[in-house]
Amino acid sequence: MGSFDGKVAIVTGGGSGIGRAVCLQLAAEGAHVVVADLKAERAQGVADEIQGAGGAATAQVGDLSDPAVVTRVVEETIGTRGQIDVLVANAGIMDDMSGPDEVSDEIWERLLRVNLTAPFLLTRAVSRHMLARGRGAIVYTDSEAGLRGSAAGTAYSVSKHGLVGLMRSGAVLFRNRGVRVNAVAPGGVMTNLEVHMNMESEGLKALGAYQSGIGRVAQPEEVAAVIVFLASDAASNVSGALVPVDNGWSAS
Ligand SMILES: NC(=O)c1ccc[n+]([C@@H]2O[C@H](COP(=O)([O-])OP(=O)(O)OC[C@H]3O[C@@H](n4cnc5c(N)ncnc54)[C@H](O)[C@@H]3O)[C@@H](O)[C@H]2O)c1
Repeated sequence: MGSFDGKVAIVTGGGSGIGRAVCLQLAAEGAHVVVADLKAERAQGVADEIQGAGGAATAQVGDLSDPAVVTRVVEETIGTRGQIDVLVANAGIMDDMSGPDEVSDEIWERLLRVNLTAPFLLTRAVSRHMLARGRGAIVYTDSEAGLRGSAAGTAYSVSKHGLVGLMRSGAVLFRNRGVRVNAVAPGGVMTNLEVHMNMESEGLKALGAYQSGIGRVAQPEEVAAVIVFLASDAASNVSGALVPVDNGWSAS
């Protein structure tokens, strides 16, 4: 018996890195996992991997910052599986380390859409089903950059600070209604996250000194284990927590 037997989980950015590790761990614990990703070959690859290991998974492809894609993913999951027990809103993109005086409109808008608006759209859609059933768990992949201003550029830091607000707001407003909302704040993790640095950026030069504090870079499975715990019934009284998974970086 797995601790997620009979449960249905949507994991965004499930095709790579932290999201992939979450999908594999949830499936190994018995969940039916909806692997949602922008890249079709990644989403299908992880769904195939889970099925090959005897687990249950469905691939969903699309840009989750598009409201129509969010509606499709959530409605198809309800239509085919009948319920959603877990949402792991994990998909995210990195900025170019530029500061407030340098960040372009394009990067600002794209970062906020993918890292903050998409989790909000998913939360709004999924929580309505969870609240109607009186049960559910939502976990966001935040970042060290949601705790401080020195871990990334302005757009990424703002998006991840905003995600902390979404998490805390949901934790309070869903209190005593059966839906828990939490987040993890990873430090450096070995994934496919692309960083397109603006090498001329003053922000990058200023952040260099702080970046040396990252220390050991984690494996995605180490972050996934904490996300899976927060999504599980073992965390039944945990809501509103922002858990650093950073080998002590945020404590320094
Ligand atoms: N890698 C790190 O060091 C690190 C540190 C702190 C936080 N994080 C956060 O972890 C989360 C997962 O990132 P990762 O490091 O595993 O990176 P990753 O690039 O390996 O995986 C992210 C996945 O999200 C998908 N994705 C991106 N934009 C999407 C969109 N609009 N719609 C659907 N899917 C989309 C990508 O295709 C990719 O498969 C992100 O939110 C990131 O900000 C990463």
